[in-house]
Amino acid sequence: MSDSFRFKAENLSAIKLRPATFSDFTGQSRVLEKLRIMTAAARQRQEPLNHILLSGPPGLGKTTLAMILAEEMHANVRVTSGPVIEKAGDLAGLLTGLEYGDILFIDEIHRLSRTVEEYLYSAMEDFRIDVMIDQGPNARSIRLDIPKFTLVGATTRTGLLSSPLRSRFTLQTRLDYYGAEDLSKIISRSAKLLDITIPEEVAFEVAQRSRGTPRIANNLLFFVRDFSQQKSTNGITLQHAKGALSLLDIDEHGLDEMDKRILEVIGQNYGGGPVGASTISVAIGEERQTLEEVHEPFLIQEGYLQRTPQGRILTTKGWQLLGIEHSQQNLFL
Ligand SMILES: Nc1ncnc2c1ncn2[C@@H]1O[C@H](COP(=O)(O)OP(=O)(O)O)[C@@H](O)[C@H]1O
Ligand SMILES: [Mg+2]
Repeated sequence: MSDSFRFKAENLSAIKLRPATFSDFTGQSRVLEKLRIMTAAARQRQEPLNHILLSGPPGLGKTTLAMILAEEMHANVRVTSGPVIEKAGDLAGLLTGLEYGDILFIDEIHRLSRTVEEYLYSAMEDFRIDVMIDQGPNARSIRLDIPKFTLVGATTRTGLLSSPLRSRFTLQTRLDYYGAEDLSKIISRSAKLLDITIPEEVAFEVAQRSRGTPRIANNLLFFVRDFSQQKSTNGITLQHAKGALSLLDIDEHGLDEMDKRILEVIGQNYGGGPVGASTISVAIGEERQTLEEVHEPFLIQEGYLQRTPQGRILTTKGWQLLGIEHSQQNLFL
């Protein structure tokens, strides 16, 4: 690969868009304030940071913040994920390989098995772990001391964490969807890093259609750039941005095809609900997990959908989006 080509390939990568410090990170001001206080205080005491749990829908910056915490603490970070740690032995191996002050980042921590979770309790609290070795009559447990480390966990589903595990995190904090102002800043920052010239009105248009999610905002920016480049030579215009977004089937509310299918299924097939998540998931042909972690949180936050103990129901705003008058709703209720 020639050097100039490699340079371009690096340019394309999303890696360079990841903010590296607190001051580089836009939005989530309350979360940032808490993290800044904890890191500054721990640095002052020259101690490792306490354990932190970051939760929230995909693409909002959990992994980014974990890396920033390591950067701000001048700590090494080991990255792993819940489903990868299959056995207690895997966890013991990871933990005993840590050094004082290291950060262990466990992504998708809600997907740890219950057994592994239980081993993690004592590691987090007492910095030691009792592992069973051998089986049958030779079985015995040995106690391993672990250097004082910081666990940073990320999860899309806090509710799936057992409460003993959750309570061992000193700070549990949740990232929320970003407003259009913050997303607009993020898009402009990304554009600058990628040498893309983008008018402010375009950044704002893309921001409004990014489902409150920086990862989506960056992806849309990439596509708007490609679209404009193919359609003309005079750079990115609002018209091109709109053309690109409509080609992607993203409407003016930022809803994608799957969001709209979910609302349609509930409205048209189930009279507005209540209908269970598994039924919706089958009807739209999407994994229940994706439905619950990606689509529903946004539809609920935007007020199109409501979760009730009986199931999901459309709101007045949801009916309006389908172009159906509110008075016709819920004939079955
Ligand atoms: N506050 C932010 N400012 C700028 N970019 C952000 C911000 N939050 C997230 N991003 C970008 O969005 C992408 C997704 O963030 P990430 O931390 O991987 O999300 P998560 O781990 O929550 O799924 C990252 O590549 C990063 O560049
Ligand atoms: Mg992540």
